[in-house]
This record gives sequence, C-alpha cells and structure tokens, in this order.
Amino acid sequence: MFRTLACLLLSIAIFSTIAQAKPEMPAAIATAHPLATQAGFEILDQGGNAFDAAVAITAALAVVEPTGSGLGGGGFWLLHRDSDQFQTMLDGREKAPSAAHRNMYLDKSGKADPKLSLNGPLSAGIPGVPAALAHLTEQYGNLSLAQNLSPAIRYAQQGFAVTEHYQKLAQFRLDVLRSYSTSQAIFLKNGQIPALGEMIIQTDLANTLQQIANQGRDGFYTGKIADKLVKNVQKQGGIWTLEDLKNYHLVERKTIVGNYKGYRITSANLPSSGGITLLSILNQLETLPFDAASPSQQQHFIIEAMRRSYRDRNHYLGDSDFITVPTIKLTSKHYAKQLVSTINFDTATPNMIFKKSPAAKGEDTSHFSVIDQNGNRVSATLSINYPFGSGFVAKGTGVLLNDEMDDFSSQQGNANGYGLIADSSANEIAPNKRPLSSMTPTFIENNKKIMVIGTPGGSRIITMVLLGILDFVDDKNALQIVSEPRFHHQHLPNYVQIESSGFNDNETEQLKLRGHSIKKLNRQYGNMQVVIYNKATQQLSAASDPRGEGESQVRIVKR
Ligand code: GLY
Repeated sequence: MFRTLACLLLSIAIFSTIAQAKPEMPAAIATAHPLATQAGFEILDQGGNAFDAAVAITAALAVVEPTGSGLGGGGFWLLHRDSDQFQTMLDGREKAPSAAHRNMYLDKSGKADPKLSLNGPLSAGIPGVPAALAHLTEQYGNLSLAQNLSPAIRYAQQGFAVTEHYQKLAQFRLDVLRSYSTSQAIFLKNGQIPALGEMIIQTDLANTLQQIANQGRDGFYTGKIADKLVKNVQKQGGIWTLEDLKNYHLVERKTIVGNYKGYRITSANLPSSGGITLLSILNQLETLPFDAASPSQQQHFIIEAMRRSYRDRNHYLGDSDFITVPTIKLTSKHYAKQLVSTINFDTATPNMIFKKSPAAKGEDTSHFSVIDQNGNRVSATLSINYPFGSGFVAKGTGVLLNDEMDDFSSQQGNANGYGLIADSSANEIAPNKRPLSSMTPTFIENNKKIMVIGTPGGSRIITMVLLGILDFVDDKNALQIVSEPRFHHQHLPNYVQIESSGFNDNETEQLKLRGHSIKKLNRQYGNMQVVIYNKATQQLSAASDPRGEGESQVRIVKR
C-alpha cells in the first residue's frame, strides 16, 4: 500500500519543463524496479542523456529483475533524439544458433515438445543485450560504458531484496531453477523460494558486467566469458558455438510509422510483430464509426479488429531478413478497409478458422520509458521470454539464458508458450534467424502531447499498448493509462481474455449477447511504464503500472 501511494505521489509529480531555462529542466523515467529508475537518474545526474540512462536501466534490470530480462536475453530500444528529430530502433533480438533447425523441438513421434523450447540451454537464442549496451553508449551516449554500467555492477555486488513478485515467479519456475545447480545457488535458498527481503547477490554477474565495461561487446562475445558460456551450454545439451557469439551483431532498423486520428505512431518493426499489428488494429478502428459507438459496441469493434490483425500476424510475420513480409499492405488504410468490410457491427464474426489452443500464461519481459531534460526519448522492451528465461545460468558467468526460441513456431498449427498458433512457415526456425516477437515499445505524439509507452506480457503486449493509446487519445493521464482494466483477443484461442477486473457483469453480458466467448482470467497482467510530455502545459508526468513493483519519477536533473 505504501509503495503504491509513494508511486502515485511520484507519478503525479509534475514539473515545468522544456521551455524553462537549463539547468532546471526535469526528466522522467518509469521502470519495473525502483533500483533501475534510480540507476537512470544517477546517470542523468552525471551528465548522461536518455541513451546513457537507457544503458544504465537495461543493465540494472538485468541484475535486479532476473524474472524479466537480462544479459542473456534481447530487446528493442526505440530512440528519439530531439536535436535533429532522428528516430531509430535498435534490434537486439536473440538469434537462433547456427546449428538450429526447423524440427529441433519435435519429439520422436514428430510432435512439438514445449519442454525443449522453454527449459534449459537448448531453448536459448544468442543474446543481444550486451551488444545493445555497447552500441547505445558508443553511438548515442555522452558517458563511457564503464560509467553507465557502474550502478548495475554495484547492485550485483551488493544484492537486491527479494519481493513478492520475485517469489511468485520463482514459484512458477521452481522445477527448472532447481534442475540447474548454478541457477539454484543464485536464485533459491537451499532449493526453496528465498524469504521476502533476502538479498540476491550475483558476484559472477558483476564480473561479467565488468568485462563488458572494460572491453565493450567483446567482453561478452569473445574471450573468457564467451568460452564459459559455450562450454557450459554444450555440456547441458545446448548447441551454441563460439562463432555464434562472435558473429552476433546488433542491427539498427527503421521504425514502423503510421498515424491515428492525427497522432503520429512510431513503434517496433520486425522481427517484432508489435508495430505492424498495432497499426493494423488502429487503422481498422479509424475506419469504423468508433466515436459514435456505444461503450459495448466500441469493445466489440476493438475485439473484432484484434482478431483480424492477430490472424495476419500469425500468418505473414517473421524475421524480414529471411522472408518477404507485406508490411506496406498490412499497415495501409486501404487494407484496413478490406478487413473492416468483414466486421458485422453488432455480432462476432463466426466464420473465422479457429482451433483450440492454451491461453497465454507467461508474465515475463520488462519495459521502461524515458524522456530526458533535453527531450530525448527511449522506449525499450526487454526479454528473456518466460520468467527466469530458460532457468539456466552458465557456470562462472552469472548469465541467466533466455528461452526466446519458443517465440518461433516449432510446428505449424501448434501453440507456443503464449498460445500463439502460426499457420505458415513465416516464423519457423532457421539458423541465425530471429524469432518473431510481440514487444511493442512505442511513441505517440501530436502537436499537443507525446507519450512513451510499453509493457511486458507476451502476446498480450500489443493489445495492452493499443488500449493505452486509446486512453491517451481520450485524454486520460499517465496513472489512469497504466491502471486501466485490460482485455485481449489474439485470433486463437477464440475467446476474449479479460482481467479479473476487466469488464463489469453488464459489459460481459453485452459481449456474450454479441456472440463473443469470454474467458475471465483469475489474475491481472502487464506491467506498463508510461511517460507523458504535455506540450501545451509544458509538463512531464510518469506512471508505473500498479500491478507491478516499478517506480516512476519526474525530477530535476542535478546538472
Ligand atoms: N518473448 C516475448 C516476445 O518477444 O514477444
């Protein structure tokens, strides 16, 4: 309760900004962990910009939120440099090892075995976060990599306190954490969930971060750390090679850009499905008589648009370095009109092809949002996929590996960990390919206001960001946006997933009458982090999702 109240007070702290004279300009940061937010401000106070702060936050989260992201994982960093309005996306997504092949997760009977793609080093792609830390600092920062990594190294040496969120997710992944002595030694206490407040100290991880601080990307992808990673991965059944690590390179990609009701939307491009799917839904809503609709009909429109865009996601999208994706068509207003022409304004479309698949269960990944004192922005979503990733720590490195390979479609027609079902080869496994993601770091802006938004949540990420955008356009404030109840449809399985507080009984009945199947989840989902700059009032505000344990701050930078 205290945390929520403190977070609320911080979140609504509003300062006069950009028009005021330096050095009184505030910055705003929202992350999933108070220590990560503090790391960001520590770096801004030392003269760093938003990009330096993003490096410090990414590294800090890798230490203090091992449930969501880490050096052994990947992510997408959306950047906006205010001086020349330059925008880009850093693609630090994991890549399949060179020995990966299409059928690597099928059992002897030819069926996909989720245990193989979710647990242990065989489920791990080649990580991108260390390359991103170095690239972001070298290309866009003011400070050195050693400066930017110093808060994270300190946290790894001194430890962070176990929270309820940590305990809950350690329980979810207890079996796999217990199955590796290296993971057990760091994340459990005598094989059990550590007590609240117990300190998790990560000496090996501090050393690995120090190697990166000293040598840049080579400190991770070559030399002693790389040797240890490959040796231990192979010993436990994984297929990484030294060449795979050496050959990993971060890619800068064009962002996905579109517009909705006069707002410019900038979001993640492939290999994330986030931007394309988000724009596809927004384009449909713009075509529909959305504003004139009743609340129930609006919900119906949103659900029907989600269904169509996720059907396309699961058919067309994959790593565009390997396949041709009709991005221009999928994000065009013309195509949205075609999609909308099949929507019945009153009832759910019955004749889409559906199969059974399990509901999404992961509560993973991490997002942070930053606007610095000079108007630079970062929206970054990071992942090791499932909570605690693959559950495997490579001995002597402290690096917890991802299980992002499960984001590929192991077999057409079979659901992955998020219940997503591909009906094409677009996202099948291939050597050095990047698995399709749903991460959706996004900027939305018009001549009055700007929002930096994103959230974790697997396949539900895109629809959470969508609902956040609709709220922003509706003039809701940062705290309202991160707090709103959520609902989701991903084409398959064929039901609307709603948070326990998602719809009231009347709304649920209305949707059922329209022919929608509803599945009420017995929990909440997402951990949205939002920063807003209101150009008209020259105010910055920020909010961390009350469902999580994050912290948002708006404050004057010391120099
Ligand atoms: N691993 C979650 C995602 O990238 O969508």
